[in-house]
Amino acid sequence: MTSPFHYHDQQLWCDDVPLAALAEAYGTPLYVYSAAAVRGNYQRLAAAFAPLRPQICYAVKANGSLALLRLLREEGAGFDIVSGGELDRTRRAGADPASLVFAGVGKTDAELREALAARVGWFNVESADELARLNALAAAAGARARVALRLNPGVDPDTHHHIRTGGLHSKFGLPLAEALALAARWGDFPALYLRGAHIHIGSQVPDATPTLAAVEVALTFIAQAPSIDTLDLGGGFPVPYREGDDYAPVEAFAAPLVERLRPLAGRLHFHLEPGRYLVADAGALLATVQAVKDVAGRRTLIVDAGMQTLLRPALYDAHHRVAPLRAGGDTVPTDVAGPICESADYLARDRALPHLRPGDRLALLEAGAYGYSMASRYNAHPLPAEALVEGGAHRLIRRRETYADLAAADV
Ligand code: LLP
Repeated sequence: MTSPFHYHDQQLWCDDVPLAALAEAYGTPLYVYSAAAVRGNYQRLAAAFAPLRPQICYAVKANGSLALLRLLREEGAGFDIVSGGELDRTRRAGADPASLVFAGVGKTDAELREALAARVGWFNVESADELARLNALAAAAGARARVALRLNPGVDPDTHHHIRTGGLHSKFGLPLAEALALAARWGDFPALYLRGAHIHIGSQVPDATPTLAAVEVALTFIAQAPSIDTLDLGGGFPVPYREGDDYAPVEAFAAPLVERLRPLAGRLHFHLEPGRYLVADAGALLATVQAVKDVAGRRTLIVDAGMQTLLRPALYDAHHRVAPLRAGGDTVPTDVAGPICESADYLARDRALPHLRPGDRLALLEAGAYGYSMASRYNAHPLPAEALVEGGAHRLIRRRETYADLAAADV
């Protein structure tokens, strides 16, 4: 996917719209997404895995904007949800409940009841206690629920320690032996069907090697649990964030998995749970420079977005490319920081940027995934606005919050 964000006449555009026009129309900080890029990413992932004919369940946690959920539903996506709140959002977006996979390590009784009442397609269960609770709640509701057991395959991918989930001591999933023991006493869970195995070993997984290792664990499990007809491969497909990032393109990521699993496609259905891959490069965060500080040979731009708008740099040392809305001129090494009263509140460090002044604008690129969805109101900043570009047109898809929104839940 070539980025929807590109320079034309020294101006940064999203598809056929200059970003300066969006900043004028909606203000900053502003998240901007390209509908074409989201669609393109979905179609490219679907094509890479086409021989497995997977149900693609978009991981809502990456970006839960209703407009994006609707757009992905139109492309044919189901959804991976991890909370009652995400269940509610997918329903507002018109999702078919049968296309929902309810994952997550800490589902509450209330959330399980809501999901049972909504008749979600799948429950990806992560512990023996959750299984027993779900069985009791389903029985009480007179329902029978379809379950996939999430395995902890004991595989640790080479990714940031905060976003890897497959190691044996991670809180996620069931070790193989425990999953087998549960399958062997499935008679204890008469309100549940054991129909699936689920793996998800982390996010931004560099290539398919660790996923293949996890697949072998899942296939060992499936071989001993004959009622299983579905394998959920999770998400984690990587996205380059900086020049020179060397991650497997999705076709290369998919190829060995397709080769290994294709012979089983007659007997198994497949689920994928991509989040980042579908939306990361489709989105940017626009910010306006408030102040320029040159101290001891170092330039710092203070902008109106910060860790409250885009948490990834502060939380993971994540890298987002910085692109001024107007390019050109000499560059100077520059840090970009937000307004929050925390030393961690930097969006970027030591970037070659032109001489920007207060009022100038810049974009943080590859911000479509885990950007808005992880934003907070820290320091009482209202949540930012979001806009969607469709070709040469644009529209607001979530309004900027007001101070009244900030006070709405106070009693
Ligand atoms: N399935 C499960 C069970 C997950 O836990 C996740 C992500 C996904 C699918 C989607 O993974 P993806 O395709 O987006 O890699 N906030 C972090 C990423 C956390 C991912 C959490 N789980 C970040 O900003 O990098």
